Amino acid sequence: MQTVLVTGAGGYIGSVLVPKLLQNGYRVKAVDRFFFGEDKLPKHANLELVRADSRYLAPALFTNVDYVIDLVAISNDPSGELFSEATWQINHQSRANTALAAKTAGVKRYILPSSCSIYGFQNNIVDETSTTNPLTIYAKANEKAEHDVLRLADDSFIVTVMRQATVFGYSPRMRFDLAINGMVYGAWKNKVLPLMRDGKQYRPMVHVQDTTDMMLMLLTADASKINQQIFNVGGNENNYQLGPLAEIIVEEVAKQIQAPVQIEWYGDVDHRSYQVSFDKIERILQWKPQWDAKKGAQEIVEKLANGQLEKSVQTITLDWYKELAKWQRIIKQVEMYGGILDIQPTSG
Ligand SMILES: NC(=O)c1ccc[n+]([C@@H]2O[C@H](COP(=O)([O-])OP(=O)(O)OC[C@H]3O[C@@H](n4cnc5c(N)ncnc54)[C@H](O)[C@@H]3O)[C@@H](O)[C@H]2O)c1
Repeated sequence: MQTVLVTGAGGYIGSVLVPKLLQNGYRVKAVDRFFFGEDKLPKHANLELVRADSRYLAPALFTNVDYVIDLVAISNDPSGELFSEATWQINHQSRANTALAAKTAGVKRYILPSSCSIYGFQNNIVDETSTTNPLTIYAKANEKAEHDVLRLADDSFIVTVMRQATVFGYSPRMRFDLAINGMVYGAWKNKVLPLMRDGKQYRPMVHVQDTTDMMLMLLTADASKINQQIFNVGGNENNYQLGPLAEIIVEEVAKQIQAPVQIEWYGDVDHRSYQVSFDKIERILQWKPQWDAKKGAQEIVEKLANGQLEKSVQTITLDWYKELAKWQRIIKQVEMYGGILDIQPTSG
């Protein structure tokens, strides 16, 4: 049985990936601070939960590990700007260190789930050879991590970078701060979908089931096709213009709730737009995504309607990190003798 160490395993992508790895016969070491709770992962005999900070991983953790999927991150632009130092440390340095520790321990493959956001906004269709234009700390840290891990690749340490499009779809650690997920929730809850003018701006999207399928595929793919390679992960047909995307979502939500849903335009024209080519992944790995926005929206609306899914502060990444920081300050002020009301007086 082969072992996969997954960092950030309790997150939005990790909590979809880990059950899939288990179903496919892998042992999993799930490494996470579990900022979003341990309950997002299933109980399983082949799953080991390791509560650790990715900045301080013991080398022994990598013993007898075959593969590393390094999902850990402060995972969006606003959180990256607010917690900038931590974002550099976690998204860049800890991933460079993890890749090196993995290589030193004899791990066979290392996968870095990066982001298409490192292309920034560009007028032409960008591919893996295009000049990057990272605009935020989150995107810049991803780019530096890519650079540092790719140069570790050799014949016995296979390194692959996945530049994921913006992910959507249901996950046990749900994120409504992702574009499609947030649009579906807003339309379902308020029967109004706010949309920034003029709706012609392009954004690439990929479903969480598709990107996690790709992670699994990379564990067994022909090493000569994937070593030291960068792949944009998504599909050409999932480069959505936000106007038509909003119409797809409005139609699906209206069907489910059997009531009209409106698009409400706001703001000046948004010129931030980018389209990504997903030709390489299709050409080299014969892979195409199975999900589109319509199917993804249907899935989320169904789960909202039957009460399997709800929005809480924990589903908005930035709000949750702010909430944790706020409560840490409050608890520090009131905690005495190891507790709040139930306390453990030491002596005397
Ligand atoms: N979701 C997307 O749209 C998307 C798109 C492109 C790339 N990515 C990348 O995929 C990866 C996973 O994203 P996600 O959406 O699952 O994010 P997420 O925020 O849901 O998960 C990140 C996980 O990392 C953990 N974590 C954070 N800092 C830690 C630390 N110092 N030590 C240990 N654990 C820590 C958190 O507890 C969380 O469980 C990230 O690298 C992200 O940049 C995501």
